[in-house]
Amino acid sequence: MTQRTWLLLPLVAFGVMCRMSIVSRGILRLDVDRYEGEPCPLKNDGTGVCRKSSQCRQSVRNGERHCEFEGNEPVICCAMPPNVTYEAFTRVVQQACNSARGIDSKFDFHVIGDTVAAQVGEFPFVGLLMYENEQIRCGTSIISERFLLTAAHCITNKTRPIAVLLGTNEATDGDADRYETARVFRHKGYNSLTKQNDIALIELKSPIRMNSHIQPICLHTDLIDLPTTTNMTVMGWGIDNSDKTSNFLLKGTVNPILRSVCQSRFDNTIRKIKLSTNQMCALGDQNINGRATDTCEGDSGGPLVINHSGKYHLVGITSFGFGCGSEYFAGIYTRVSSYLDWIIERVWQK
Ligand SMILES: *[C@@H]1O[C@H](CO)[C@@H](O)[C@H](O)[C@H]1NC(C)=O
Ligand SMILES: *[C@@H]1O[C@H](CO)[C@@H](O)[C@H](O)[C@H]1NC(C)=O
Ligand SMILES: *[C@@H]1O[C@H](CO)[C@@H](O)[C@H](O)[C@H]1NC(C)=O
Repeated sequence: MTQRTWLLLPLVAFGVMCRMSIVSRGILRLDVDRYEGEPCPLKNDGTGVCRKSSQCRQSVRNGERHCEFEGNEPVICCAMPPNVTYEAFTRVVQQACNSARGIDSKFDFHVIGDTVAAQVGEFPFVGLLMYENEQIRCGTSIISERFLLTAAHCITNKTRPIAVLLGTNEATDGDADRYETARVFRHKGYNSLTKQNDIALIELKSPIRMNSHIQPICLHTDLIDLPTTTNMTVMGWGIDNSDKTSNFLLKGTVNPILRSVCQSRFDNTIRKIKLSTNQMCALGDQNINGRATDTCEGDSGGPLVINHSGKYHLVGITSFGFGCGSEYFAGIYTRVSSYLDWIIERVWQK
């Protein structure tokens, strides 16, 4: 967690940006490219979701607006009603959510554009992964009695978490509950170059004893991207403003950045990052030094959450960034709702 400024803003990279696109006849074009999953304005009033045309035949016939191209297939503004199959499919996730505790009102405050220490029990779902090599630091979230969700890059052949620290806000808390890991499930599609599918599950040897400081978090199931005005909370024991990993859990408020905006900024850099709809971008307000609230090294695997009717829901998993705390480059998070089938299969359908 940090508000470090990005020092090497690539000034030369702001040259001509020419984005070619082929527009099908009869389909209106949106003013800006919107990516699959993003909300979009329907031809006649109302909000739709950008979806591949093959998944939205009705809207193709109606000549709805065009969002972007994905391969050869246009992505159009789709007026698809909620999908009954999908709701039945996510029922197990909703049921698990019933047992998750509501937000404790004694922690009922938020900070914008800054990070502050979280209180013990404020985020009862967050855990710190423990490795043999104490230099390695990653966060995680409790999603059931036996399973935690983290980033795939927090687990490699050489660096496997041996345990998880729960119910504390202090990385060096000797009295904290410690649970040993039994197995890890790293997403097979994880690619360390493209950063796609940066998600993993950790199974514990023994079930977690829940208490007021240790609770599972609900999973966010909505496939529609959150509005950019949404206040979300990030947290972690990663690198802070003093450039060292934090002993205390820090939290900050960030907002979603449109994937198209986020992508175009990465397009302006030397390093080519191609974001998919399985990822999301988020960044917080700038402080007086021009530093934006952001996650940083050591926060990986940790939660990005929203307050959804009084309960925290896990929306994202901290994945990567380009520097930390830049007002230009957002932090990138694995989009949890894109992986519900992968999660359900391993956690609840055994
Ligand atoms: C509903 O959603 C499920 C899961 O995403 C998908 O497999 C299915 O094709 C969808 N059904 C319709 C009618 O769109
Ligand atoms: C987000 O937080 C800010 C600052 O507390 C507040 O002004 C704003 O209304 C909040 N946005 C939403 C959508 O709740
Ligand atoms: C969470 O949302 C509920 C209403 O949905 C609100 O009453 C409560 O104050 C919020 N809590 C925090 C910590 O934002």
